[in-house]
Amino acid sequence: MCRPHKKNMPIKHKKIKQSSRSRSARSVPNEKSTNESGFNATLDLRMDSMAFGGKAVSRLDGKVYFVEGGIEGDVATVEITNSNERYGEGRVAKLLEPSPHRGVSACDVSEQCGGCQWQGVPYPQQMIWKKQFVETSMRRIAKLGEDLVVEPMPSPVANGYRNRIMVRGRIFPDGQLKVGYFQRASREFVGIASCAIAVDRINNFIRCIQKISFKESQLARESPALVKFKIEIQDLPAKKSSEPHLLMSIFDTDDKNFSADIIRKKLAQLPEVAWCGGQADVPKAPFFEFESDLNVTFHTAPGMFQQVNVPHNHTVRRLVKSAVDEFSPKRILDLFCGSGNLSLPLADGNRLIEGIEFSKKAIAAAIYNVEHSGIKKAHYSAGDTEKFLWNASNLKIPYDLIIADPPRDGMFKSLEPILNIRPDHILYVSCDPTTLARDLAVLCKEHYVVKRFVALDFFPNTYHIESFVVLERAKK
Ligand SMILES: C[S@@+](CC[C@H](N)C(=O)[O-])C[C@H]1O[C@@H](n2cnc3c(N)ncnc32)[C@H](O)[C@@H]1O
Repeated sequence: MCRPHKKNMPIKHKKIKQSSRSRSARSVPNEKSTNESGFNATLDLRMDSMAFGGKAVSRLDGKVYFVEGGIEGDVATVEITNSNERYGEGRVAKLLEPSPHRGVSACDVSEQCGGCQWQGVPYPQQMIWKKQFVETSMRRIAKLGEDLVVEPMPSPVANGYRNRIMVRGRIFPDGQLKVGYFQRASREFVGIASCAIAVDRINNFIRCIQKISFKESQLARESPALVKFKIEIQDLPAKKSSEPHLLMSIFDTDDKNFSADIIRKKLAQLPEVAWCGGQADVPKAPFFEFESDLNVTFHTAPGMFQQVNVPHNHTVRRLVKSAVDEFSPKRILDLFCGSGNLSLPLADGNRLIEGIEFSKKAIAAAIYNVEHSGIKKAHYSAGDTEKFLWNASNLKIPYDLIIADPPRDGMFKSLEPILNIRPDHILYVSCDPTTLARDLAVLCKEHYVVKRFVALDFFPNTYHIESFVVLERAKK
C-alpha cells in the first residue's frame, strides 16, 4: 500500500517531500497546463505493486496511479499524463530510489526500448508478479475463491527464447543499415546490436546485416534521406545453421515504395536466408518445415501465426495431450486452431478432430501438416468460431472435448453455443487473464468446475502471462 510519503516511507528510505508542483497537482488534478500531455503535475510516488499491463501501481490520497516505466518498490518523480477523480496515469520522469527488484539487465537498451518492461528483474520475481495477476483476476472477476490453485510454469529459458521478431529498419544517409525498436510510448527509433529475448541465430543475423552498406546502391542515389522499413525475421528450428534457416518479410513504412524491394534483393543473397519477400509476396509464400514434435511435422509460412517460444509451446502441447489422454474424448473440436498446433498430436486414428480458424493460410498449413504426417481423422476448416459453434449447436454435434485458444479478447460471444453443445471438458488456453476470468465467470456459473489451472510464461521479461485451464462439466 502506498500512502502519502511521510507516513509511508520505510525508515531506511529518505523522506520524500511533495514538491510545490506536486501539491498543485493534488489539489487540481485535472487542471490543463503546459506539458505535452496537458497536465502540469509531477508527483513523487512510491510503487507498491504491479498491474496487468506492466505498469506499477501507487496509491495516494485514496487515488490509484498507474505508472509506466516503474516497478514495485521504486520511488520516483512521476509525470502525470492523465487523471480523473478515481485514478491517474503517469510515467517515471526521475527514479529517486530504485526498487530492490532492479538488477542487471541482459539488454543494453532496456531502459529506452518499448519491448521488455522487466529486463533486469530476477526471473523468479517476475513469476511472482505474473502469478499474482492471474490470481487477482480470478478472485476479482471470475469470483473463484481462495481454494483455486494456480501452478506456475516458468519458461525453460528467460532470454533467447523468441523465435520470431519484428524490428524497425533504417538506412541512414551514409548508406548504413540499422535495426531497432521504437522507444517506450513513442515512435522514436532505438538501434540495437542484438535483442536479448531473441534466439541466437536471429541475433547473429542482426549483427551480420548491420555491416551491410547501401552506399553504392540505387537506394542511396535515389533516396539520400533516411529510409524506413520493418523486417519480420523468423527462424526455422528444423534447419541446421549450415542450411538456409531464416524467413524474412520486409515492409515499407514510408512512401518510398521501391526501398523494400532493393533491401529484399540484397538480403535474399545471404546464406542464412531461406525466403525473403515483401508485403505482396507474403500471401503467396510457400510452406517451410518448422519443427517435429509428438510425431507431427509442423510447417509454417512467412506472416503466419506461430507460437514464438518453441520450448514452452512443447509444454502446452503436452498439457493438452495429458488432459486428452486422461479423458479419452471421441470427438474433439479445436477452436482458434491456427495450423493445428495443439490438436494435431491428439489424432490417434480413432477419435475425430475438427479445427476452425479464421486464417485461410493457417488452415492450408494445418491441412499440409495432416498430409505430411499421414494423420487420419483430422479436419481443419477456415471460418468464424462463433458462426461455426452456432451451427454445431443447432445440429447438436456431440463434441465431448473443446480446446479453445482465442486471441486477447477471449471468447465471450462463443460461450452460449458452447454451453448448448455441453462438452464434458473444455481446455482453455488464454493469453489475457482478465478476459479469461470474465469467460470463466460464465462457465463456472453454468456447472463447469476448474480441474487444473496453470500459469504458463511464454514471454519472460515482459508482463504477459498465458494460462491453461482444464474445465469439467459437473454431473448433475
Ligand atoms: C492465439 S492464436 C492461437 C492459434 C493456435 N491455437 C496455436 O496454438 O498456434 C489465435 C488464433 O485465432 C484466430 N482467430 C481470431 N479470431 C477468430 C475468429 N473469430 N474465428 C476463428 N479464428 C479466429 C487467429 O487467426 C489466430 O490464429
